[in-house]
Amino acid sequence: MSQSRAQEDKYSDSGLDPNWRSDALDLGLDYGMQTIAVRAGQHRTDEGEHSEPIFTTSSYVYKSASDAAAHFDGTKTGNVYSRHTNPSVRTFERRLAALENGERAVATASGMGAILTMCLAYLKAGDHLLAANQLFGSSIGLFDNYMAKFGVEVSYVDCFDNEAWANAVQPNTKVIYCESPSNPLAQICDIGFLSQLSKANDILLVVDNCFGTPALQRPLDLGADVVIHSATKYLDGQGRVLGGALVGSDKLMQEAFTVVRSGGISMSPFNAWVFTKGLETLKLRMQAHCSNANQVAQFLVNHPNVSTVHFSGLTDHPSHELTKRQHHMKDGYGAIMGFEVKAKEGDDPKSGAWHVIDATRMVSITNNLGDAKTTITHPATTTHFRMTPEARAEAGVKDGLIRLSVGLEDVEDIIKDLARGLDSL
Ligand SMILES: Cc1ncc(COP(=O)(O)O)c(C=O)c1O
Repeated sequence: MSQSRAQEDKYSDSGLDPNWRSDALDLGLDYGMQTIAVRAGQHRTDEGEHSEPIFTTSSYVYKSASDAAAHFDGTKTGNVYSRHTNPSVRTFERRLAALENGERAVATASGMGAILTMCLAYLKAGDHLLAANQLFGSSIGLFDNYMAKFGVEVSYVDCFDNEAWANAVQPNTKVIYCESPSNPLAQICDIGFLSQLSKANDILLVVDNCFGTPALQRPLDLGADVVIHSATKYLDGQGRVLGGALVGSDKLMQEAFTVVRSGGISMSPFNAWVFTKGLETLKLRMQAHCSNANQVAQFLVNHPNVSTVHFSGLTDHPSHELTKRQHHMKDGYGAIMGFEVKAKEGDDPKSGAWHVIDATRMVSITNNLGDAKTTITHPATTTHFRMTPEARAEAGVKDGLIRLSVGLEDVEDIIKDLARGLDSL
């Protein structure tokens, strides 16, 4: 045996599955959330590195031909190829699963990759997908244009109307899908009610927790079966890389994992490392995001040129009490809100919204959100542009609506930037 083979043997003869080594810092939920965010899921190698390394490798070596065969026939588990598993990706998956209180997480190349994985894993031709009408535009596009093409029936209901949800369930409904808070109006779904409805009808409840994050709410604890993330948003928190994830039971995640592996919807190791490090500060960032957002919402609601503020942190918002019950962070209502500007006599509402957006000097005009930088978006002409005008109207995405993702700058500066356009309407 060559020198290098002997060296490998020394490191791999422990008999342990390298996927789940005993030296991984695997913390249970008896630790506090911040400890889990900083330490859970780390796979420390024999080099003894303190911080999490990035495993930039597409494949893995075996001790012998029979060892390779054993990895393929399933008698031995371990890394085979990074489209299947990768240690950096696994660290992110384990840390996120611990934070969401799920048995397992499966990482994907983007948030949409996670939603596509959910569809391919849990739906087939003839099934019915029942979704909230308040969703990220691309999710609606995926459901209407592609799932429908493959024979999945899709319908939508008002996300806060429990009676409408109950009435829309069909014998072939297999998945109930919602975002809470939703994009772009930050509406809140009653996850406990939807869980009861799903369980009574043998349906999977899937909740996109991208706007809430586990720092604010854990949908699995509220009765959801699967949590979806666009990690691109708050899990990174600095707008650097794309990624997504599903979290849930071992059984459901195994079904998702085989879709990711076969379809190549896998997350890159570098992106996984960025998200792992992002999770370490998630709770602290979310506290600061929410505190800024609460102050910005107060400014907007008191401004004479704002007609409506969509933000459940406002005490007269219809979902204020529900949000307080569902979110475990005190005063944490999220940091994304919609607001509608009052159009001048004879002006169309879009020009008022564009005036406020164009008057900003510091806030970024972009379609991403969940970033340290405050972002401002006109959903009707960007993120929700591809929806039909009727679907947009039904979802409340009006021409005068602005979506704001409140960042981590000094809140006085965010307010000053918004006031510039609002004061001069
Ligand atoms: C609520 C929500 N879910 C999913 C996605 C899709 O995520 P990604 O852009 O990472 O594919 C987005 C993107 O904005 C979103 O806002």
